[in-house]
Amino acid sequence: MQLRRLGSSGPEVSVLGLGTMTFGNEANEVTSHAILDRYFDAGGRFIDTADVYTRGVSEEYIGRWLADRGARDEMVLATKARFAMSDDPADRGAGRDYLQRALEASLRRLGVDHVDLYQIHAWDPLTPVDETMEALNGFVAAGKVRFVGVSNHLAWQLERAAQVCERNGWAPVVSLQPQYNLLARDIELELVPLCIDRGIGLLPWSPLGGGWLTGKYRQDTDPAPLSRLGEDPTRGLEALSVRDTDRTWAILDVVRQIAERRGVTMGGVAINWLLRRPMVGSVLIGCRTTAQLEENLAALEWDLTDDELVDLNTVSAPGIPAYPQGFLENEAGMDIWERLRTRIHKAY
Ligand SMILES: NC(=O)c1ccc[n+]([C@@H]2O[C@H](COP(=O)([O-])OP(=O)(O)OC[C@H]3O[C@@H](n4cnc5c(N)ncnc54)[C@H](OP(=O)(O)O)[C@@H]3O)[C@@H](O)[C@H]2O)c1
Repeated sequence: MQLRRLGSSGPEVSVLGLGTMTFGNEANEVTSHAILDRYFDAGGRFIDTADVYTRGVSEEYIGRWLADRGARDEMVLATKARFAMSDDPADRGAGRDYLQRALEASLRRLGVDHVDLYQIHAWDPLTPVDETMEALNGFVAAGKVRFVGVSNHLAWQLERAAQVCERNGWAPVVSLQPQYNLLARDIELELVPLCIDRGIGLLPWSPLGGGWLTGKYRQDTDPAPLSRLGEDPTRGLEALSVRDTDRTWAILDVVRQIAERRGVTMGGVAINWLLRRPMVGSVLIGCRTTAQLEENLAALEWDLTDDELVDLNTVSAPGIPAYPQGFLENEAGMDIWERLRTRIHKAY
């Protein structure tokens, strides 16, 4: 599997990263290990997990698999901390002492002496960002973390984190892990231009919109019982109340047409599109079965044409807010999208 440098200064990662949020939840240990085996045999070398995934169980499954396969040195291993690990308010956040405990606990569950990428799972409004980034820098200095990243940040928060590292000569933020897929392109307004500017790599989560982009949900049919929405129609950002819109169905129509014409899966179209977006280092694919993984790996065997990219970009274009983006574009004559395209061009 092809490798890409994550941002301008991160590690080299496989273009498809294995997301492991289903481990210990939809996928038991036997299935999770079969998924890891298949991913590894396909040449995949990048695993993304978090302490909070099934409260440590995902990391434990990965740790036992790494030991069984003797694969630690070949894998780029990413995990995260910040969300609640228990009902105790001390067991969460991005404060120094908590991160120290969280990292040690992740290393223990994973059975490793260091992780390659340690990510703050979301901005912590209760902790000064200097404290968080200094703690992360200490982990790098101690050899327990190779690279530092963040997830679920607003643009100003990411900029603050990047700046404080820059100013103090601390380990830089090399990556951002945001929700990003054909149904959710809002990060292109502020975060993607910032990542281009700073050379921060993107690790898109929910590349299939939690399953929507596979075409598994239909307007006239109830979700199958063994699916995210079949199990919980109100679940997170894939909830029916969020995604059952005319915009979603219009995007799915175009994805379906391309998939049928090319003889590929709809999910493959969605993954292929993300692989062509600027700053994307690795697309984090999640699955509950090896069959799903197999289908998603096939996205690497073909490429969207430029015309197909235009069709997908057009139908899924995120709206520009009236202010300030719309104002700047209409009143000040700044074509924001054109400027973004120019910078994207320069970035490659
Ligand atoms: N940083 C964060 O806050 C954050 C948040 C979310 C995820 N993530 C990371 O991103 C990874 C991927 O996120 P995600 O799981 O939401 O990604 P996704 O690819 O959008 O959704 C994966 C789900 O779609 C369904 N699916 C996948 N392949 C399929 C196929 N070929 N045919 C039919 N259905 C298929 C499965 O759900 P069902 O079979 O159950 O329907 C699967 O669990 C996670 O594992 C995690 O590492 C990070």
